Amino acid sequence: MDKIIIEGGRRLTGEVVISGAKNAALPCLAAAILAPGICRFHNIPNLRDIVTTKKLLANLGLTFEGDSSLQVDASNLADHVAPYELVKTMRASVLVLGPLVARLGKAKVSLPGGCAIGARPVNMHLKALEDLGVSIKLEHGYIYADAPDGLKGATIVFDQPTVTGTENILMAAVMAKGQTIMKNVAREPEVSELAGLLNQMGANIVGAGGPELVIEGVEGLYPVEHTIMSDRIEAGTYMVAAALTGGEVTIKRCPAEYLGAFIEKLVKSGTEVITLGDATLVRRTGPIKSVDIKTTPYPGFPTDMQAQFMVLMSLANGLSVLSETIFENRFMHVSELRRMGADIVVEGRNAIVRGQKGLSGAPVMATDLRASASLVLAGLVATGTTEISRVYHLDRGYEHIEKKLAALGAQISRIQE
Ligand code: EPU
Repeated sequence: MDKIIIEGGRRLTGEVVISGAKNAALPCLAAAILAPGICRFHNIPNLRDIVTTKKLLANLGLTFEGDSSLQVDASNLADHVAPYELVKTMRASVLVLGPLVARLGKAKVSLPGGCAIGARPVNMHLKALEDLGVSIKLEHGYIYADAPDGLKGATIVFDQPTVTGTENILMAAVMAKGQTIMKNVAREPEVSELAGLLNQMGANIVGAGGPELVIEGVEGLYPVEHTIMSDRIEAGTYMVAAALTGGEVTIKRCPAEYLGAFIEKLVKSGTEVITLGDATLVRRTGPIKSVDIKTTPYPGFPTDMQAQFMVLMSLANGLSVLSETIFENRFMHVSELRRMGADIVVEGRNAIVRGQKGLSGAPVMATDLRASASLVLAGLVATGTTEISRVYHLDRGYEHIEKKLAALGAQISRIQE
C-alpha cells in the first residue's frame, strides 16, 4: 500500500488548479442511467470513487470511453443490481437506486453500512421512495425497490436535509407521473448541479438551491453534454494549506462563491482571501487567530472542511471550539493530530482546540477522506517527517494531491511499499 511522506516546514507559493468536484461527478454519472444513449461529461476528476462508480455502472450494462472527458452510454442498461462488493467501498453507490427504479421500475442495491464518520443510515431515501409509490423490502443486506407500474408524484418532507437523499429522490421523481414537491431538501451546490443537468436532459425541476424543489414528471430524458463544476472542498483544502504555511497561493478554477461560510472563518483566522474572477489568492502574513466554527448544511460551514480547519486552529493563538452537527463521529483525526502535538479535547460533538507553537512529524493514518487530508496539512507545517498510511482514502477524493502540493513547494512524495 502507498504511503505519503512529507518533510514539513516549507512555505507554499504559486498556483494550483482545482479539479472537477467528486460529489458533483458521482450523482451526475448516476443520472446517465436515466437517458438511453450517450452522455458526454467533461472535467471528471481522476479519483478512486470515480473508478468505483464506473465499475458500478458497467455492472448495470453502461459502457465508457475516455477519462477526464468521458462518454457514458446507457443504451444497453441491462441489470438493476448494485452489489455489496462495490457499495461497501463507496457509500455514494446508493445513488443508483433512484435512477434505476425510475428507468427500470426496480432496483436491488446493497444497504450501505455505517462508516468511519457515523452511522449514516439511508432511511430518508427509502421513506421518500415509498412516498413515490415504490415498494421497499430489506432482505439479506439488500434494498429491494419495486415499482412495476411506475412512480407517482407526491409531497415529500425530509426530516433533515440529506445531500445524496435529495439527489436520489430527484433522479427518481423526474419521470414520476404528475407533480412531486420535495421539502426541506439539501441546498448544496452539487444538488443544484444535478438539478441543472437533469433539466438539460429534459426534466422539469424548479427551486434548485432553495429548501423546496417542485418537479413535474416527464415521459423520458435524453442524453446531453455537461461539464462538472470545480471541487469546493478541494479548493478549501488548498486554501488552508496556504494559510497554514504562511504562504501565498493562487487557486485557479476556484468556486469561491460556494465557499462563503468557510472563507468568512478563514479571513477571521487572519488569512487574506482575494477573489478575482475564478482565481482566488490566499495569503497569510500575521499570526493565526482562533475562531470557533459549527458545521451545518449548506450554506453553512461544511462538515467536509472541519478536519482541515482544525489543523489551522491547532496553531492559532488561543482556544477555539469546533462543533460538528452533521456526523456524530467525525473526530477520528483528533487522536492522530494529538500524536503530532496538537492539544485537542473532544466533548460530545465539540472539539476544544488549544493552539500550540508547532506540530511535530509522526507516522499517522486516518480512517476517512477528509481526516486524511487534515493529516497531510498537519504534515506540511510539522517539524521533521510525517508518514501517512492508508493513502487510498486520499485517492478517493483528491486528484494528484502530492503533485499539486509539490508544485507549490511542499516536500512531499509517495512511496509504494
Ligand atoms: N441521514 C439520515 N438518514 C438518511 C440520510 C442521512 O439520518 O437517510 C443523516 C446522516 O447520517 C447525517 C445527515 O443526515 O447525519 C446528513 O447526511 P447526508 O445524507 O447529507 O450525507 P451524504 O449524502 O451521505 C454527502 C457527501 C459527504 C458530505 C455530506 C454532508 C456525497 C457523495 N457525499 O453525504 O461527503 O460530508 O453529504 O455534506 O455527496 C466527503 O466527500 O468526504 C463526504 C463524506
